[in-house]
Amino acid sequence: MSSNQKWDANLYDGKHRFVANYGNDLVELLNPKIGEKILDLDCGTGDLTQKIAEFGADVVGVDASEAMVLKAHQKYPDINFNVMDATALDFETAFDAVFSNAVLHWILEAERVAQAIYRVLKPEGRMVVEFGGKDNCRQINQRIIENIEARGYTYQFPWYFPSIGEYAQLLERVGFEVSYAVHYDRFTKLEGEDGMKNWLAMFSGNFFKTVSAEDQQLIINKTIEQLRDSLYRDQSWYVDYKRIRVVAIKR
Ligand code: BEZ
Repeated sequence: MSSNQKWDANLYDGKHRFVANYGNDLVELLNPKIGEKILDLDCGTGDLTQKIAEFGADVVGVDASEAMVLKAHQKYPDINFNVMDATALDFETAFDAVFSNAVLHWILEAERVAQAIYRVLKPEGRMVVEFGGKDNCRQINQRIIENIEARGYTYQFPWYFPSIGEYAQLLERVGFEVSYAVHYDRFTKLEGEDGMKNWLAMFSGNFFKTVSAEDQQLIINKTIEQLRDSLYRDQSWYVDYKRIRVVAIKR
């Protein structure tokens, strides 16, 4: 996960496990082969790293968060996990594939990440990634921004949510050939009556860097009430995720 955000690895595993659950079919798209060297970039607590290992690949997980790497080590002691920044990947041998699920939107320096991935891949190696695409969480973000601005604060948009066109161009500049790309809706159910509150507590912190703690609480409460009409259905909260999923080859 990104270095700018403080991560609670237990909350992540407890309430946000869907992040890894949804990644299972991305592992199928990766199609790991026995003996392939694969890097799981920003691996979180390691669930998908373990899935990749089950295919017989020689997988390494890296994450910028020490808390996530510690938890990943505890859960999967046979896998090699390291604390490492995605913009500064440093390995002695090259990978057949780089895999990343649900995190690249946290890193605003997207081109530096793509360059780092390119450097650690073998020629003809593949990157298989999924993360938030254009208009991801649009309703939630619109409300937070409205409420922050209404109280006279400024904010920096904390995520990189590109369209397919934008991301494909970036990858081509770096030297990749994009062989597959989709941008799709994934309305996602959150757990429990406090689902939206927990989601905002876990993920929205970077919006509030200039906001007092008291105003942050007021903004979050107001945002939750405003979203109830559109994102609370049949006693469950939902997030209006939109994902971008891309395979690109190092040429
Ligand atoms: C996502 O997985 O798309 C996401 C998660 C947290 C904040 C923003 C986006």
